[in-house]
Amino acid sequence: MPEKSTKPVIAVSGGGQGIGRGILLYFAERGYDVAIVDVDQDQMAVTAADCEALGAEVLALVCDVTQSNQVDAAYAQLAEHYGRLDVQVNNAGILRRQRIMDSTDEVTQAVIGVNVFGVIHTSRAAMRIMVPQGSGNIITAHSLLGDRMPDAGLGVYSATKAFVASLTRVMAAECAPYGIRVNGYAPSVTDSAMVHHIIEERPVAKLDQISMREFGRPEQVGKICWFLCSDLAEYTTGASIPTDGGSWLVQRPFLPWEAAGKIEPRQR
Ligand SMILES: NC(=O)c1ccc[n+]([C@@H]2O[C@H](COP(=O)([O-])OP(=O)(O)OC[C@H]3O[C@@H](n4cnc5c(N)ncnc54)[C@H](O)[C@@H]3O)[C@@H](O)[C@H]2O)c1
Repeated sequence: MPEKSTKPVIAVSGGGQGIGRGILLYFAERGYDVAIVDVDQDQMAVTAADCEALGAEVLALVCDVTQSNQVDAAYAQLAEHYGRLDVQVNNAGILRRQRIMDSTDEVTQAVIGVNVFGVIHTSRAAMRIMVPQGSGNIITAHSLLGDRMPDAGLGVYSATKAFVASLTRVMAAECAPYGIRVNGYAPSVTDSAMVHHIIEERPVAKLDQISMREFGRPEQVGKICWFLCSDLAEYTTGASIPTDGGSWLVQRPFLPWEAAGKIEPRQR
């Protein structure tokens, strides 16, 4: 067994960019060493340099989460290198738009591959380190589009996120005897490569769905992850925390803004 790292360690799948990168930077700044698990080597290099600049040691694990042999090899390397794993974030995900009637097996399998199999692969690999350790936090990426508000044209994506929410509860129960908590975060529109075009093309239509009338930022998900891993959440497991500024709390979240005189009334 290698010498155990003196600092806590976080691994984030899909940590090269977007929300995963935001989580890594938040934890690196607060004393964690990090492992970036991603397929995009260019993005990983940028995030690795930024985490190092914040004082973190960085292990960059190039790994396709759909392939269990790659995931197992990456986490064996992580265990060898750090000797511990305190936080695992199953963040890697892809979104593809297709109606079910037009769907292709290729796209369906790609989305399920990352969003379902990927979560199982990285969770299992993390548990193999955390169970003998007797501690840890596992965090999964859900979505507003999962069990709360699936969307037309995003049936497979939405269903994978509902799957992850359900799996999170099961993993929380299975991991509880080993001192491991399992929770999730559920963003709506958080500025990243995945949704940036929506923010550019339809800002007002999207803001009208969000009670706080702001788009999310990746570091805000980092804050929720920090809370979930902290003692403040010591009695919380199996939960999904919305990180969505109050998206779709009601049918017309813009009405209170009109009533408050803070936006122009809509034509009806
Ligand atoms: N951004 C949002 O508004 C939003 C909303 C709801 C849910 N989410 C979820 O949050 C998570 C992060 O989303 P994001 O917006 O940061 O996405 P993103 O597209 O900006 O980043 C995803 C990252 O995952 C990596 N990745 C993709 N396939 C992979 C694979 N097979 N193996 C390893 N890494 C892989 C990519 O290289 C990339 O670095 C996803 O699970 C997404 O479904 C995001």
